Formats: sequence, C-alpha cells, structure tokens
Amino acid sequence: MNVLKRYLNFLRKRFSQPQGTMAAVTQVFACDSTSIVFSLDDQVAVSSPETLTALHTAASCLKDLSPVAFPTETVYGLGAIALNATAALKIFSTKGRPADNPLIVHVSSRRMLQTLLPQNYTLSPSYELLIEHFWPGPLTLLFPCDHSLIPDIITAGQPTVAIRMPSHPVARALIAVTDAPLAAPSANSSGKPSPTRAEHVLNDLNGKITIILDGGPCEVGLESTVVDGLHEDGNIRILRPGGITVEDIQRVLINGFSDTDTPIPQILVHRRDFRDDALEQAPTTPGMKYRHYSPSVPVTLMRMTDVPLGIEPRSPSAFLEDLKRSMPHSPNALRVGLLMPSDSILMKSLISDTTIQWHEFPFGLVSEPAIIARRLFDGLLTLEREGVDLILVEEVPEENEGLAIMNRVKKAAGSSQWIAIP
Ligand code: TXA
Ligand code: MG
Repeated sequence: MNVLKRYLNFLRKRFSQPQGTMAAVTQVFACDSTSIVFSLDDQVAVSSPETLTALHTAASCLKDLSPVAFPTETVYGLGAIALNATAALKIFSTKGRPADNPLIVHVSSRRMLQTLLPQNYTLSPSYELLIEHFWPGPLTLLFPCDHSLIPDIITAGQPTVAIRMPSHPVARALIAVTDAPLAAPSANSSGKPSPTRAEHVLNDLNGKITIILDGGPCEVGLESTVVDGLHEDGNIRILRPGGITVEDIQRVLINGFSDTDTPIPQILVHRRDFRDDALEQAPTTPGMKYRHYSPSVPVTLMRMTDVPLGIEPRSPSAFLEDLKRSMPHSPNALRVGLLMPSDSILMKSLISDTTIQWHEFPFGLVSEPAIIARRLFDGLLTLEREGVDLILVEEVPEENEGLAIMNRVKKAAGSSQWIAIP
C-alpha cells in the first residue's frame, strides 16, 4: 500500500495543475440519443451529424488525457481512459476524490470486457446470467484484476476491478468511438449528490472540465448496483444497491438455475445480510468511509418505522415547533424543502403549517419507487439551488428501488427524526 501511496503522490505532483493556471472553458454539447444505434455485433452508427461531431470531439479530448462528462442511464459520469494512469488521476483531482476509492471501468461490448480480464479466466454461470439479463444496464460486476493491464489507481490496490456496460446510447457510443474502456465515477465534486442532468454537472464543475455531453435527464437516477460474485461459496454479494434491484437479480438467478444441478446462489446485501470489516476499512463501496451525497444544506430523514430504543416519536406539529426554535429566522420565513411522495400523509400534515415557506419537489407516489429514485438527486440539487434552509426527506420502504433510495438518503442525511402521525 505504501508503494501505491508513493506512486500516487508522484503522479499527483507530476501532473497536478500549477496554481494560477487558467480554468478551462466548459462547453456543453447536446447529443441526440435517438440518433445512435448499435448493431448486434456492437458496431455503432450515429445518424445525427451534430451528435457524431460531439462524440468525436469528446473522444479526442479523452485521448488527450482530459476527462469528459457524459450521460449514463444512472447518473452523469466523469470519464477518462481507464488504462492510462495519468488520465485516470485527473478524475481524482477534478472531483477532489480520495485516492483510495476505486473507479468503475465502463465498456461498450463483450469483446471490450474480454480485453480487460485475465487470460484463462472464465465467467461463472451466475455472471453469464447477470450479463445476459442486465447488460447493457445499471449493473457493475467485480472481476479479478490483471494488474499488468489495469493501473493501480483504478482499483486502489484491490485485487478486483469493477466493470459495467452502460445502456445509455451516448455513454456506450462515446466508449465505442473512443475505442477504449473509460473509468468513470459520478461527475460531481466528491461528497455531493450525483448529477442526473447536464446542468447539475455544469453548476458543479464549470471551469474544471472542458466538455459535457448533454444526453438529457438520467432515467434511473441512482448509481449502478455493485455486485461481488467472486467468492468461493458462489453467493452474490451486493456491495451497493442501485439501479438493478435485489428482487430483479433474485428472479433472474432463480429462473436461470431452477432446472439445473447448480445450487441457486444466495443474495447477500452488505450491512443487511453481511458485514465485511476489510470492506469498511478499505475504500470500497460508496459512503462506507467518506461523506456522500450531501448538498450544502442540512438534510433530515423523516422516519416512521424502526424507532430506536429510547426514542419517543413526536407529532408533526411538535417536530415543527422544535425546528422553528432550533433554526431562528428573521425577517423571512423559514424555507424548508420537501422530498416526500405526493400522496404522503406526513407532508399533508406538515404543510398545514403556513408560517413556513415550503418548497415541494415533485417526487412520485409511494407506490412508484422507480420514479422517486429518478428524482432523488435532482430534488436534493434543485432544492439546494433554491436556497432552502433545510431539506426533509421521507423514508420509503426498503424494497425494490427503495433499498437503493434509502441507502443514499441515509448517507445524505445528517440526522433522522422519528414522527408518529396521530
Ligand atoms: O452508475 C454508476 O455506477 C456511476 C456511473 C457514472 O457509471 N458511477 C459511479 O461511480 O457511481 P462511483 O465512483 O461514484 O462509485 C463507484 C463505486 C466506488 O465508490 C467503489 O466503492 C465501488 O464502486 N468500487 C469500484 N471498484 C471496486 C472494487 N474493485 N471493489 C469494490 N468496490 C469497488
Ligand atoms: Mg459517486
């Protein structure tokens, strides 16, 4: 690890921008996803000349070892050529990302995946099934790492490398046109909510990067599910819940293995079904070690379930009285952002207090967790820009997309409040 640290320090000194260097001018290029088509053998065709030019401009920027922001179906990514340590290092300096947090490598085809894997490595039947069903898409798989090929900065010295094939046409086309795997974390300053629109990236990284490809709002809105299926027991460990739900994975594995002799792997969710001290200490999956997803405004998680011992849930009005006392405001009213399902009983009760200026962000129904997932980061970033004093986020059941939603919300929130609705 010391060798890795010395190497990273060397690269940082060698390639960091000198103080006073002029900031880059950030250009945003609109891309038309509907003009991009992939053939069955993974060849890309782009019918819009503007989109093709944008892709080529971005590809040459990447080849010049500068990072480019681009849309994926999950969140916007900040990409750099994965097999070049200098390029990858610029991701870390642009985001202010801690060097021990590994990056996901993005590929555009199975052929490109194969070029990254150790020789003689064969995919397990579980991985074959998961890839067949969920690639391209928001599923990241850990693979054994060939250290002679993949720079240490990508894996932060881990024995594995995380790889996914994004389904957003612009992401996949950018990788194909560049003809190189791209390392890409979310395109935000470290610790902030992940961007789901080009304007979120611009607001955050303007002047720090030269190109943002705008492919519209991200459909999934939360990052990919990170899966480790490399353990000898054959079980599937979910290191980070995300765009592909645990229920989806379970369904595919049960269907895929039910008529075979292979035992159906168990699905274990980190921190719910297993803990891993090495994982907690080492970098890995987001928010385990570092602050994550937090806007500059305080976020409070409003809970009605899982009341801890010794906590007496309060009524909404008692909560609001305390809130007003703890955040004295004048001359204007307290401005509070709400990320709550549109059919929330809690929200209805809160907004009946008209002494507070409420900022409601449309969030979908309780029964529509996929929509809530899509809007969560957008809501945090939009309310932050509206200048609210505080954001209240209501808990959702931790099933389907709700598991990933609550994973992000718990990390974004500085505190939780337990409420009982009379
Ligand atoms: O949807 C996504 O995954 C987005 C888009 C841009 O593709 N990317 C993304 O990257 O969320 P990032 O860097 O914000 O989160 C990737 C996480 C890392 O924080 C790390 O914890 C985990 O994936 N990861 C990467 N390599 C790993 C490895 N070898 N072992 C365990 N976890 C790893
Ligand atoms: Mg991130």
